[in-house]
Amino acid sequence: MSAVIISGKELATEKRAFIKAEVQKLVKDQQIQPSLAVILVGDNPASHSYVRAKQKACEEAGMECILDHYPSTLTEKELLDRIAHYNHEGSVHGILVQLPLPDHINELAVIESISPNKDVDGFHPVNIGKMMIDQETFLPCTPYGIVEMIKSLNVSISGKHVVVIGRSNIVGKPVGQLLLKEDATVTYCHSRTKDLASITKQADILIAAVGRANLIGPEFVKDGAIVIDVGVNRLDSGKLCGDVDFDKVKEKASFITPVPGGVGPMTITMLLQNTLQSAQKSESENKTFSC
Ligand code: GUN
Repeated sequence: MSAVIISGKELATEKRAFIKAEVQKLVKDQQIQPSLAVILVGDNPASHSYVRAKQKACEEAGMECILDHYPSTLTEKELLDRIAHYNHEGSVHGILVQLPLPDHINELAVIESISPNKDVDGFHPVNIGKMMIDQETFLPCTPYGIVEMIKSLNVSISGKHVVVIGRSNIVGKPVGQLLLKEDATVTYCHSRTKDLASITKQADILIAAVGRANLIGPEFVKDGAIVIDVGVNRLDSGKLCGDVDFDKVKEKASFITPVPGGVGPMTITMLLQNTLQSAQKSESENKTFSC
């Protein structure tokens, strides 16, 4: 059996067309243009390329994207001041500080300084807490995109065994929580897990978010599993590849995401979705205040 390839790119294109139409409606009916402030500190090449992709996606969806790029010598206080400015700026609906930050800046202090109402990354502890107790909030974009991709397959998630490899705050932990909400049985694996393959082979849905090229070969995968590859690794040749050995695992899985063109485009799409949601909410709040 050769797996069906889940095209994150195609699903993202569909969703972005819908978001663009919603943006046009908001501009026409309420004169509100969704606006995202992106702050980039330093010159990490991968961060540059992610930020460029976010900026392009915003512009294509008809959203404003304000890009602040600072040298790596920016102090934590200067960064916090900039975030405070955007927290108070009514025309800005979303704030994103690209991670990682230089070592002298406390990442958690920065995340906590973003207003939870503008935290379109879904990283603020208040929003993570809301997600944990199933309250409406901004969901972290990569896990949100993964759940949307799995739902698009029209297979039931309820009762399925999901195995997540990786326990980061950005991907591993939240994707397990979101799938638990869909009534999956969730197991987390990580660098200290013993006999990883014996656990991953039980997975109906296997999510690899480790950051090691081609770590997951067919010996880790059950026949017919859905395999979601979150890894983005650059080989010495310059080629991008995931955590999953795509060519071999696709012969065993029922569905599989490619790298590139899988999870990546969905992450940015959910960022647009969150920014739109924030702008729509600001519109309804304004209405309440003016009544
Ligand atoms: N760095 C890598 N992924 C992300 C992301 O989703 N958001 C932010 N802010 N930084 C990142």
